[in-house]
Amino acid sequence: MLQVDDIQLAFGGVKALTGVTVHAEKGRITAVIGPNGAGKTSLFNVVSGFYRPQVGRVVLDGEDISDLKPHARAYRGMSRTFQNIALFHGMTVLDNIKLGAHTNLKSGILTAGLRLPLTRNEESMLDREIRRDIIGLLELDHVQHHPVEDLPYGLQKRVELARALVMKPKILLLDEPVAGMNREEKREMSRFVLGVKKNWNTTVLLIEHDMSMVMGISDHVVVLSFGKPIASGTPDEVRANPDVIKAYLGGADEPAAA
Ligand SMILES: Nc1ncnc2c1ncn2[C@@H]1O[C@H](COP(=O)(O)OP(=O)(O)OP(=O)(O)O)[C@@H](O)[C@H]1O
Ligand SMILES: [Mg+2]
Repeated sequence: MLQVDDIQLAFGGVKALTGVTVHAEKGRITAVIGPNGAGKTSLFNVVSGFYRPQVGRVVLDGEDISDLKPHARAYRGMSRTFQNIALFHGMTVLDNIKLGAHTNLKSGILTAGLRLPLTRNEESMLDREIRRDIIGLLELDHVQHHPVEDLPYGLQKRVELARALVMKPKILLLDEPVAGMNREEKREMSRFVLGVKKNWNTTVLLIEHDMSMVMGISDHVVVLSFGKPIASGTPDEVRANPDVIKAYLGGADEPAAA
């Protein structure tokens, strides 16, 4: 579904990514992990279109999207969450989720805080679809009419996930979805990401620091260290790889076996 081929990205003299290739298979969860400074965020920005690499290409469902801007990638079925919560206060959970549709339905980009006018027909169809397909799956029924800012952190992150799903993306990019979460919240988020995959066969590219989450839910893992891929394979293969253990021990992280 997504091919990121042989990416090279430098900021001045700093090589952030060298020869990075990641293929995300349809209906699978592919994770990119690595210690601090490994290049995870840089890669995420290359995939979503915020950074233009000097070398390499990004192909989505057979189409080379390397030259497309972020909103054009979104329009083609690439959806993302943000590492920091990007929800609109003063709006309910349901309204925040509905904003996910504006990315594609009306405007090119999510316009800050604006409730762009959808036709009544579009609006009620959207409500129905969200209630039927998303609210139930992500167990948000009980809070759908609450203002988002009243919710605990873990639930807010789940609302973000819901919003990213509104357009039924071909690929869902998750940027450190469990950063800052406690153990219970991490478990919940893992369960919901797995639920999305099972129910919708959504392709997921997960960029994550947290080993326990990645090892628990991924089908395929790519490990970066200092901007280079050092290993890839199933979670078990990667966990047992001496280079991976060394890279994590050398950094400020927990060892890969944790
Ligand atoms: N905008 C930028 N300008 C200059 N250098 C950058 C920029 N973004 C990243 N870098 C450098 O590129 C390298 C990779 O950084 P990146 O943020 O992608 O790593 P990361 O794996 O996301 O790290 P972390 O786990 O700390 O979030 C680092 O050496 C970093 O200093
Ligand atoms: Mg980062």
